[in-house]
Amino acid sequence: MTIEQITFEPTLAGWQRSARHALQLGLSPDEIVWHAAGSAQPDLGLFQEHAADTTPASQAPHFKVPRSFLILAQNVACHSSEIRWALLYRVLWRLTHGEPKLLEVAMDQDVHLLREMDSAIRRDVHKMHAFVRFREVRTEDGIYSVAWFEPEHHIIELSASFFVDRFASMRWSILTPDRCAHWDTRELRFTEGVPRTAAPTDDAVEKLWLAYYSHIFNPARLKLQKMQADMPKRYWPNLPETAALPSLIQKAPKRVEHMLATSERRKVQETDFSTPPVPPSADLRQLQAAAKTCQACPLWKNASCTVFGEGPAHARIVLIGEQPGDQEDRAGKPFVGPAGQLLNRALAQAGVDRAALYVTNAVKHFKWVPRGKRRMHDTPNAKEILVCRPWLEAELRAIQPDLTVCLGGTAAHSLFGSPVRVLQERGRLQPSPCGGQALVTVHPSSLLRLPDKAAQEKGYQQFVDDLRLLANRQ
Ligand code: URA
Repeated sequence: MTIEQITFEPTLAGWQRSARHALQLGLSPDEIVWHAAGSAQPDLGLFQEHAADTTPASQAPHFKVPRSFLILAQNVACHSSEIRWALLYRVLWRLTHGEPKLLEVAMDQDVHLLREMDSAIRRDVHKMHAFVRFREVRTEDGIYSVAWFEPEHHIIELSASFFVDRFASMRWSILTPDRCAHWDTRELRFTEGVPRTAAPTDDAVEKLWLAYYSHIFNPARLKLQKMQADMPKRYWPNLPETAALPSLIQKAPKRVEHMLATSERRKVQETDFSTPPVPPSADLRQLQAAAKTCQACPLWKNASCTVFGEGPAHARIVLIGEQPGDQEDRAGKPFVGPAGQLLNRALAQAGVDRAALYVTNAVKHFKWVPRGKRRMHDTPNAKEILVCRPWLEAELRAIQPDLTVCLGGTAAHSLFGSPVRVLQERGRLQPSPCGGQALVTVHPSSLLRLPDKAAQEKGYQQFVDDLRLLANRQ
């Protein structure tokens, strides 16, 4: 078998001319070495590209390939791998020699490689569209915009029309080490590549862009790994915004804190609420004393006192209820009324010592509506839960329990910061947003409201079963 050296112009059109000729001669892929004209390899010139068209068209055998191959070839021809031309010919040969449906065989090695190269080109084009930044240069004819970019592959021809559409009325050049594109508002031209030093480095547009980027940068959405994956470091030298990034990243946590504080404050002000007077890094005693004066929401007005949490300062388990009821409001202690008695019974049955638990409520004031002479429980709303939450957070910070148990929806809403489906979440341990684990179960009062004895008994047994998870953790 003799090996033919094919020297061709390394463009899709150049390769196509040579490949067509090779097919006409019946040269199998193994018989050809593809040699791009102008590359460093020796040009033996055994089979020059211009020789390809010597056969009259009428006598040339007719080769048919699927359109999808031509589309793939257009991208693959831009890949920087040396093997692309030989790969294209191998696939072309197989398509025209008994495997017309080859491209549908995704597992085929050649097809797989072809598709991988195609994807690499698409990614590179996408990155070029996203990361080219023009800098303004003043010339005798006015302003000219110049960008420097280093694509991984030979994609400038593929990408240029995007910039023509986008910056049609600007005069610009995109310089790359491989090829350069130039647009004069009418005509697109390509020239040889240039070194990086040919590109300008600083200008007024850059300052504007920097100010704009700093403005749109959202610190709350900072995800460093994702940012580096989307904006690989190799492009950073060309992107003015990367100069601003270290300082923006460093300031991000403080800015998020400020954003949160402002948005919480805005919510609170909206409804005439205020921030509770939670002393920083206080112990339980100090928190309890400070909570006595809390008027952060209107509930204090109708309550007798603040009912704060109660129990050992180093309890391993914290139980959160909803809010004090009528009896708790009078006694100033959590869970001493009917719901408390039911809770005590269930805890005892589950083998849990209540005295070892810290028991508190999501909302620290009794919310009620009058019915005759009675004060009827009224469920706290989301704003009241949100405003009271810093007290609960401070209690959990001071205690650092291993397990936080939410009795009912209000408690879970407060701990997780948003509504929770209690019946879906109940009975399974999960991470607590305040540290340690969390367990959601029903509120004991909900058992008292069940329609009949059988349902109450069943509900109670399920509640006890949930509480069994607390035994041996105290
Ligand atoms: N219900 C609660 O949620 N907490 C109490 O303290 C009493 C009843």
